[in-house]
Amino acid sequence: MVSEVEHFYQNNRFPGEYDDIEGVEHNPFVKSILDNIPKDAKWSVLDAGCGSGMIANRIAELRPNIRIHAIDISQPSLDIGEEYAMAHHLDNIFFRNYDLLDWQHEDHDFVYSMGVLHHIPNENHAIEKYKYCTANWGKLMLAVYNPYWKFAQKMLGRFISWPNETLREDQMEHPFERSYTQKQLTQLFHDYTITKVVQGKDNLRNGGLTLYEIRKDRT
Ligand SMILES: C[S@@+](CC[C@H](N)C(=O)[O-])C[C@H]1O[C@@H](n2cnc3c(N)ncnc32)[C@H](O)[C@@H]1O
Repeated sequence: MVSEVEHFYQNNRFPGEYDDIEGVEHNPFVKSILDNIPKDAKWSVLDAGCGSGMIANRIAELRPNIRIHAIDISQPSLDIGEEYAMAHHLDNIFFRNYDLLDWQHEDHDFVYSMGVLHHIPNENHAIEKYKYCTANWGKLMLAVYNPYWKFAQKMLGRFISWPNETLREDQMEHPFERSYTQKQLTQLFHDYTITKVVQGKDNLRNGGLTLYEIRKDRT
């Protein structure tokens, strides 16, 4: 059965279509992801919930030696990413129609997931899966909504000017979303350490999306 979230993203391909993605790396979140991947790394990387793959494709372009698995529950979104990868002859990115909760690879060197955890109803299962995918001391970066900014956004929603309808619907009409303080995330990853926090730029329009770099504690 297609869940409400899956249904939503089959009709709302996020962030949508694109031709030119040069410059995406200047976004503070994408820059932080790239800072974590050495230029010559031959890593296995997972983008969990890649949407239409704008970030994943740019990372594949700038880190040609990595192999990046870009997974999502929305095939229409994946189609956009795949089309770009084929047109630009990227042979180090693999788009897969997968629910993160069903993903079986545990040996990624690096996993990032932007704006996804807060849309997965089974939170405990999702956290387990992120840990499983980075089981061999891999690094993890998660971007999630912040409750204070989400509150402000809901209060001011009708006065906000939105750059496009896709973002407005994603922020204002989503069938399921949560948000996290740093303290809540620390509790969910109690055997891990948050080593870096990166704030987004446009908090009112992105729900205070914040990127956390999370590392497993070595005991
Ligand atoms: C807000 S979009 C973010 C897309 C992309 N990460 C980005 O930042 O451009 C959230 C994405 O997560 C995907 N998603 C939600 N739940 C998922 C799950 N359980 N497994 C895989 N993908 C999921 C949705 O289909 C959607 O494409």
